[in-house]
Amino acid sequence: MKKIGILRGMESSFPEALIDHINADYANKKVTASFVSIDTVRMDGDPEYDVIIDRISHEVSFYRSYLKWASMKGTYVINNPFWWSADDKFIDNLIAEKAGVAVPRTAILPHKDHPPNTKSNSFRNLKYPIDWESVFEYIGFPAYLKPHDGGGWRGVSKVRSALEFFKAYDDSGTDCMMLQEDIDFEAYYRCYCIGRKDVHVMPYNPKAEHQLRYSSVRDEAVPPKLKKKITKDVLALCNTLGYDMNTVEFAVRDGVPYAIDFMNPAPDADFNSVGKENFDWVVKSTAKFAVAKALEKRTVYPDFDLNRALGKNAG
Ligand SMILES: Nc1ncnc2c1ncn2[C@@H]1O[C@H](COP(=O)(O)OP(=O)(O)OP(=O)(O)O)[C@@H](O)[C@H]1O
Ligand SMILES: [Mg+2]
Repeated sequence: MKKIGILRGMESSFPEALIDHINADYANKKVTASFVSIDTVRMDGDPEYDVIIDRISHEVSFYRSYLKWASMKGTYVINNPFWWSADDKFIDNLIAEKAGVAVPRTAILPHKDHPPNTKSNSFRNLKYPIDWESVFEYIGFPAYLKPHDGGGWRGVSKVRSALEFFKAYDDSGTDCMMLQEDIDFEAYYRCYCIGRKDVHVMPYNPKAEHQLRYSSVRDEAVPPKLKKKITKDVLALCNTLGYDMNTVEFAVRDGVPYAIDFMNPAPDADFNSVGKENFDWVVKSTAKFAVAKALEKRTVYPDFDLNRALGKNAG
């Protein structure tokens, strides 16, 4: 029997539905799904799962390390814990540009407050005073100030002037913040992408109340040409970044989709937030991909070359 494990935190609805769906629809393929169950992790152990779907390691570093271990020992982890540990939203903007996807002009800023375990002496490389004028000139106002590793709209502010910027920046604490060009959009979309192949484009209204962001625009048709372009961009991003499960958001200005938020390796898939149709899509598509991976032969983390890591010549 092949085993798929789900690793989750406070989240309910999506993980349970995924387990039920796999166990009901793929029993004849000899695949079973359950919640991951672990305590300590020994170097000499072996992972019990063929596939793990990770919904929480961004908040629990013990889980992240466990997933790297499992990955090196042959478990296929959705999403790749090595890459998820490496990238950030700023650097992903550069990658998007290279993949031919339009993104807003973006800059990162030095932390407002000292990160934990640092003091003034830790920042002797920083120029002072900071040349704010040049970054304001590059980005323009209005602009968005947001963390380079954010989620759930934490610390996101729209700032209309230097004065508003400094107020928001003063409140940003120890986060590394990005200042980003505002895309004054005529339409906004959020897209699931599963297995770097299946794309589901959802009209999304970020100006509505949280619980109405999908439902208030559910019946809006996506113009076919725009849908084609968005689908192409989603696939380019998820394949270049190597995320098997992601949501990609676009703000459309003058007919051009700009990727706004596309580093969501544990995307919101809550029934009450995304609604029945989107929920059913993401459950089915994730199950299909996870099962396909479970049925593949186990290999160690595909890009990990021990000889290279140890500085030896292969062979
Ligand atoms: N550059 C921008 N131009 C226009 N609107 C933006 C821009 N950046 C952010 N926004 C608005 O702010 C919202 C939250 O920003 P963003 O999605 O980047 O934050 P997040 O914390 O990653 O959110 P999520 O909960 O989707 O993970 C977006 O849905 C969008 O409405
Ligand atoms: Mg977002």
